[in-house]
Amino acid sequence: MTAQIIDGKEIAAQMRVEIAKEVEEIKKKFHVTPTLVVILVGSDAASEVYVRNKEKAAHSVGMNSIQFKMAGDISEAELLTKIIELNEDKKIHGILVQLPLPKHIDAQKIIRTIDYRKDVDGFNIINVGKLSVGDISGDDKAIIPCTPLGCMHLLKSVKGKNLAGLKTLVIGSSNIVGRPLARLLMLESCTVTIANRSTRDLKAECLQADVIISATGAVNLVKEDMVKKGAVIIDVGINRIATSDGKMKLVGDVDFENVKKVASAITPVPGGVGPMTIAYLLKNTLESCLKLIN
Ligand SMILES: NC(=O)c1ccc[n+]([C@@H]2O[C@H](COP(=O)([O-])OP(=O)(O)OC[C@H]3O[C@@H](n4cnc5c(N)ncnc54)[C@H](OP(=O)(O)O)[C@@H]3O)[C@@H](O)[C@H]2O)c1
Repeated sequence: MTAQIIDGKEIAAQMRVEIAKEVEEIKKKFHVTPTLVVILVGSDAASEVYVRNKEKAAHSVGMNSIQFKMAGDISEAELLTKIIELNEDKKIHGILVQLPLPKHIDAQKIIRTIDYRKDVDGFNIINVGKLSVGDISGDDKAIIPCTPLGCMHLLKSVKGKNLAGLKTLVIGSSNIVGRPLARLLMLESCTVTIANRSTRDLKAECLQADVIISATGAVNLVKEDMVKKGAVIIDVGINRIATSDGKMKLVGDVDFENVKKVASAITPVPGGVGPMTIAYLLKNTLESCLKLIN
């Protein structure tokens, strides 16, 4: 068996075409341009790349993207003041603070201060709480974190809309990926197991799963002999490793070349979950804009 490669890049590109159409309609109908603000504190090289990519993506669908670059030694109070100003600015529909923040700033306090209706990352506790209780439809529904939304979309692209009863294993339980993803799977009536570093027998857990979603940052964590024949593999991990010729390349958490021999479908890294995360950031911004202007 050779697994179907789930083309996140292509699926995300289709989403972006649809989003661009909706942005155009909003501009015509309301004379409003959906606008995303990305705040970057300090000069972390990886964060700068992520922020640039988000900005490019927003422009590609006709949105405004404003970047605020703040010095690494900005005080927490100054950053809070900026966020409050953006909360009140009617022209801004999405606010994203690129993580991680410098240690002297309380990231949770910053995220709590973002108006939950503009919290397009879905990290504010109001959105976390709404997702937790299943408040995911209607006018004031939760804004759900982008990467878990992207994973669900990719999973449904191979398994169809009805995921009920699937035995799913989420490896990693961060607030950004693992936990909200587990909640989304539960809301689809999957049977969900969450693994972490303390999981006693990860291989045994993996072998039982119809779907494995790995979000750990551990290279080659999921290997061929850990995967049930025909399982679906979603690889969220992004790891930069050195190749034999001294160059750097991106890999996920999964031993892709070998696992694809047993899986029925698998996401590549790059080109799997990453582009979907950006597409859902745009979708969340679009939806926030619609809510705020209506
Ligand atoms: N593709 C995308 O768009 C996207 C978006 C976000 C993140 N990512 C990538 O996804 C990965 C995870 O990101 P994150 O922010 O969720 O990371 P994180 O906050 O560091 O959390 C990592 C989680 O993985 C678990 N873990 C780490 N090593 C493990 C191991 N050997 N066995 C079992 N569990 C292990 C940790 O367990 P403990 O709780 O026991 O410590 C923790 O729950 C990173 O590679 C990140 O770059 C990708």
